[in-house]
Amino acid sequence: MTARVKIPAHQDLAETLVSEAQIKRRLGVLGREINRAYAGKEITVIAIINGAMFFAADLLREIACPIRLDCVRVSSYRNATQSIGVPEIKNSFTLDIENRDVLLIDDILDTGKTLALVVELIRKMNPASVRTCVLLDKHGRREVPFEADFTGFQIPDRFVVGYGLDFAERYRNLPCIGVLKPELQNPPEWA
Ligand code: IMP
Ligand code: MG
Repeated sequence: MTARVKIPAHQDLAETLVSEAQIKRRLGVLGREINRAYAGKEITVIAIINGAMFFAADLLREIACPIRLDCVRVSSYRNATQSIGVPEIKNSFTLDIENRDVLLIDDILDTGKTLALVVELIRKMNPASVRTCVLLDKHGRREVPFEADFTGFQIPDRFVVGYGLDFAERYRNLPCIGVLKPELQNPPEWA
């Protein structure tokens, strides 16, 4: 599903790409898809923080299956709109995932490097299955081949903030997803 609303919903946004109402509606649909895919089985959810925090919190409340929850902290962006290139696992999850059905959740699938890295780590632990769910997909930016099993919205190649996504750790709490005004994209005091 592609979404685009023109009116900015926050003073620092040049444009809103996905509104709060669109996110809410889409999460209901995604939740139903996930419920169908797992058919009542217990899911071991691993959320990639900090970015997936808001998305996971809202999505999991749309899922009827029993859930075990853990998080993994991965860093790939450092105070800028450019990736440092190689994602790094800062804190791994601690739940035992052997023979479990794992659902890995992230905010956005961009180059694919972050999800590829975490999926590889999960697979080494012999889970029964691994699926991935992302709120946003910037398909044109892929550097490693990767497709998510569940996707909220396809978006164009723009740097976005809000609903968990940050610029230098700011804007995660915006209820919608949008593009920052260009003059706010590189303030030296945020370095
Ligand atoms: P990938 O490894 O390039 O796929 O990047 C995934 C990570 O980069 C995500 O977990 C986000 O934290 C971050 N990221 C990618 N694009 C954006 C963006 O437009 N805004 C904010 N963070 C982004
Ligand atoms: Mg992230």
